[in-house]
Amino acid sequence: MIENLITALEAAENCDEMKSIVNSFNKNQTACKNWMKEELAKLDLKPKTVFVAGGWFGNAAAVCKEIFDCRVTSVDLNPRTVFIGRLLYDNIRFEEGDCFEEYEKADLFVSTSVEHFDNDKLSELIKNSRGTVFCLQSNNYFEIDEHINCTETLEDFIDSLPLVDIMFAGELEREKYTRFMVIGK
Ligand SMILES: C[S@@+](CC[C@H](N)C(=O)[O-])C[C@H]1O[C@@H](n2cnc3c(N)ncnc32)[C@H](O)[C@@H]1O
Repeated sequence: MIENLITALEAAENCDEMKSIVNSFNKNQTACKNWMKEELAKLDLKPKTVFVAGGWFGNAAAVCKEIFDCRVTSVDLNPRTVFIGRLLYDNIRFEEGDCFEEYEKADLFVSTSVEHFDNDKLSELIKNSRGTVFCLQSNNYFEIDEHINCTETLEDFIDSLPLVDIMFAGELEREKYTRFMVIGK
C-alpha cells in the first residue's frame, strides 16, 4: 500500500491534489471508514456486487473490499480521483461519471459522500432500488461550500431518506462535526 501511495503522490498534478490525497487518509476520514467497516461487518450481508457512489480516491471501496469478497465499483465525477484511485487500488473497478446516471443495480450501495449529493436524486434512486442495501454517511459540516446536503441531526438525515427498513443508525463525534451513518433498505 505504501508503494502505491508513493506512486499516487508522485502522479499528483499539483500541490492541492497531493494534499487532497493525503487528506483522504487523515484521522477523521480513516475513523469514518473504519466505523463503516465495523458496522457493515456486524450485519449478515453477502453482497455479490458493491457500488460506491462519489467514491473519491477509493478508500470507502477499499474498506468494502476488505470485508466482502466480491466486485466493488467506485464511481466519481472527477476523472483525477479515478486516475489516482487506480494507482492506489488495483482490486477496485474505478469509473468516471455521475453516480446517478452510471448506477448499475448492486446488492450494496455505499456512499460516504452524501453531504455532496442532490437529495432528490438520491431519494429517487433509493425508491427505484428495492432489494438493495444502502450504507450512507453524511454530516452536519455546513461550513464547506461543496456540502450541499448536510443535515442538523441524525434524525433529520434518516427522515431525508426513503428507506423502509433501517438496520443501523448512529453518530460519530468528530472535532468539527458529527458524522451520521444509516444502513437500510
Ligand atoms: C470530497 S469527496 C468525499 C468526501 C467523503 N467524506 C468521503 O470520505 O468519501 C466527495 C466526492 O464526491 C464526488 N461526487 C459528488 N457528486 C457526485 C456525483 N453525482 N456522482 C459521482 N461523484 C460525485 C466528488 O467528485 C468528490 O470526489
